[in-house]
Amino acid sequence: MELVIQPGGRVISAQPGANLLETLRAEGVPISHSCMSGRCGTCRCRVVAGEVLESGREIKRTSPHADADGHYVLACMSALTGPCVIEVPEPDEIVTHPARVLKAKVESLDALTHDILRVRLRSPKPLDFSPGQYATLQFTPEHIRPYSMAGIAGDELLEFHVRLVPGGRVSGYVRDTLRPGDAVRVSGPLGTAYLRSRHEGPMLCVAGGTGLAPVMSIVRGSLAAGMTNDIHVYAGARSPQDVYGLEVLRTLADEYPNLHVHSIVASGASVDARPGLVTDAVTADWTDLSGWRSYLCGSPPMVDAAALVATRLGVLPNHIHADAFYDAA
Ligand SMILES: Cc1cc2nc3c(=O)[nH]c(=O)nc-3n(C[C@H](O)[C@H](O)[C@H](O)COP(=O)(O)OP(=O)(O)OC[C@H]3O[C@@H](n4cnc5c(N)ncnc54)[C@H](O)[C@@H]3O)c2cc1C
Ligand code: FES
Repeated sequence: MELVIQPGGRVISAQPGANLLETLRAEGVPISHSCMSGRCGTCRCRVVAGEVLESGREIKRTSPHADADGHYVLACMSALTGPCVIEVPEPDEIVTHPARVLKAKVESLDALTHDILRVRLRSPKPLDFSPGQYATLQFTPEHIRPYSMAGIAGDELLEFHVRLVPGGRVSGYVRDTLRPGDAVRVSGPLGTAYLRSRHEGPMLCVAGGTGLAPVMSIVRGSLAAGMTNDIHVYAGARSPQDVYGLEVLRTLADEYPNLHVHSIVASGASVDARPGLVTDAVTADWTDLSGWRSYLCGSPPMVDAAALVATRLGVLPNHIHADAFYDAA
């Protein structure tokens, strides 16, 4: 049975029933993978022709393009059933951080705004991840949710920004019960909206609310990697009292002239921010984003709207990396 790999058209012969990821790895085809159990999403590839049998998919749809522009499967969860053509992501996108479960402890909890807490965890072992990825935090067996890393691998502490959702079970637990010294299980890394570090064109990073956490990770990660691409961060907040992280970003922008920070508030006047929606600000500022990559992080409606704007302005669908904070309950 023949398996054709795109791009390139390489032909691999495989046994019916063989696992797709194992087959690709055995043949030396570069492909991202981490958890090997359908959770992280990094082994996602596109079935261009033919069929594979996918089982036990756990990953949530965090990208507006996840299934809209083709039939995507998780290679680790897929068995080959007949001849097929599979498109694997470009080699520059390959990440292979081993999935881990770490027993961390809360180092500190502090308020970034009236309803956003910075949670810093100390882990006895390091978590290797790409900027923009997330992890599942288990505070107790009943309090488990995904949160994005706000820092970069190699930082002394793992940092997360948790918005306190009204009536939220887990964010309420974080506010009312979680204290420094408490144990937290960290599982990850997860997610595909990670920094593409070989990209040389400009980057559009759109963050809504705590979507700034993965965007800060991406910004710091790209600067630390020596990337000199122009990076435009559009950080959206509901009102001036919801704005956070600007000082950190502007300090970085003073040091790195390729970083440009745009703060936007949906309502209320602010000397520090433009009024309106992040998507309107992007549309007002740009007419053509061909050759750009975009990273869109935050609430699902904002991410969907920003993905439409980016596509309309010429960003290729496979250059739109989206991390929508779907309600995980
Ligand atoms: C990939 C991924 C990454 C994420 N990263 C972050 C992050 O970095 N920071 C962060 O604060 N959150 C993040 N989230 C969201 C987070 O996982 C939880 O969904 C959120 O904290 C709410 O959980 P809860 O238990 O407090 O609320 P729940 O008890 O699950 O929900 C309570 C109510 O709030 C609504 N609700 C749930 N989530 C939201 C939301 N995000 N906005 C508005 N209303 C909501 C629910 O529909 C429900 O009505 C991420 C989610 C995903 C899928
Ligand atoms: S390696 Fe396939 S989903 Fe994680």
